[in-house]
Amino acid sequence: MWKNIEAAPADSILGLTEAFKKETNPNKVNLGVGVYKDDAGNTPVLKSVKAAEAILLEREQTKSYLPISGDPIYASSVQKLIFGEDSEVISNGRAATVHAPGGTGALRVGAELLKKFNSQAKVWISKPTWANHKGIFAAAGFGLAEYNYYDAANMCLDFPALVASLEAVPAGDIVLLHACCHNPSGVDLNEEQWKQVVAIGKAKGWIPFLDFAYQGFGAGVEADRFAVEQFAAAGVDFFVASSFSKNFGLYNERTGALTVVSPNREESVVAMSHLKVTVRVIYSNPPAHGGLVAATILSDPALYQQWLGELNDMRERIVAMRTALVDGIAARGVDRDFSFIKEQRGMFSFSGLNDDVVKWLRDNKAIYVVGGGRINLAGLTSANIDYVCDAIAEILKK
Ligand code: LMR
Repeated sequence: MWKNIEAAPADSILGLTEAFKKETNPNKVNLGVGVYKDDAGNTPVLKSVKAAEAILLEREQTKSYLPISGDPIYASSVQKLIFGEDSEVISNGRAATVHAPGGTGALRVGAELLKKFNSQAKVWISKPTWANHKGIFAAAGFGLAEYNYYDAANMCLDFPALVASLEAVPAGDIVLLHACCHNPSGVDLNEEQWKQVVAIGKAKGWIPFLDFAYQGFGAGVEADRFAVEQFAAAGVDFFVASSFSKNFGLYNERTGALTVVSPNREESVVAMSHLKVTVRVIYSNPPAHGGLVAATILSDPALYQQWLGELNDMRERIVAMRTALVDGIAARGVDRDFSFIKEQRGMFSFSGLNDDVVKWLRDNKAIYVVGGGRINLAGLTSANIDYVCDAIAEILKK
């Protein structure tokens, strides 16, 4: 069957991890995939997660199927985290949440649902965006268009161009927005800018789809939900794909959620009925373990505080690595200014290193960076920061 078929290219992010594993250079550094590492270079199981797992080991009575939409306690935990406990969206029953396998699964379920009822729409993605966004929405059969976002010359948000793009999106089209910690750029909107974007969306009638995979990695759990809160307050229909991969470190448990917000409870009930039909034909019902862990932590005040502390530690370590990278490159006499990296948020930096530099770093120093120059700052440690700064200085001073 396959003899006349060309092999598909490796995934631009996960394929890099596969190549990195085979790399034999003992100094190798992986700044590719968006996975948190501590200063020892490990991706630990959080202590709050271990504690929740110990509770589950005692309490769990069955491995029978979950409902199609997942455990209702998980859904309500997700809603409290992404909207805030006292949100009117929750008390008015305007949100329908299904447990999806990771943020990717949530995006795909949302895409399939939208395709059923909005098949002529286009999906607008930021330029640039996470490499997998295109694939997910294209696989669901959507045509794609890009909206302006990043000013590559000045390494910042091009807000006037973003506004111009979003004002031209036709009613009914879908606009995929990064709620915080834009992937790959690390460049976010400020609160005033979000308010303007929400007003444009409401006036133009396009459908916001928020990818919310990094809650807690920007400024904190509450501050990072600003965009979600604003869309909720606008009373429009919108979608949120959220994930516990990064903020709970539950990467391989594939623990995400799709939440569809409607203007009222009645519509939300209809949305949930169609969400269930959509899920049933893709994966039937979700895997339980990661969701049980997240729900256990989120509903236990002591574990919740422990988890918040661990999340803050992760965020602060990444911020420290931003500073160490910028200062380390400057200290080596590189005249290009990298201080913009300190302003970016989340796990990533769009470093401004071009693809020739990215290739040189990999070929000569075994430093793996995603094409386009996206660096995962969590891959930097006190043991490898000098090596990475030396390498970047060497190629930029050539
Ligand atoms: C990333 O952007 O590196 C992560 O979201 C992992 C992935 O699946 O691409």
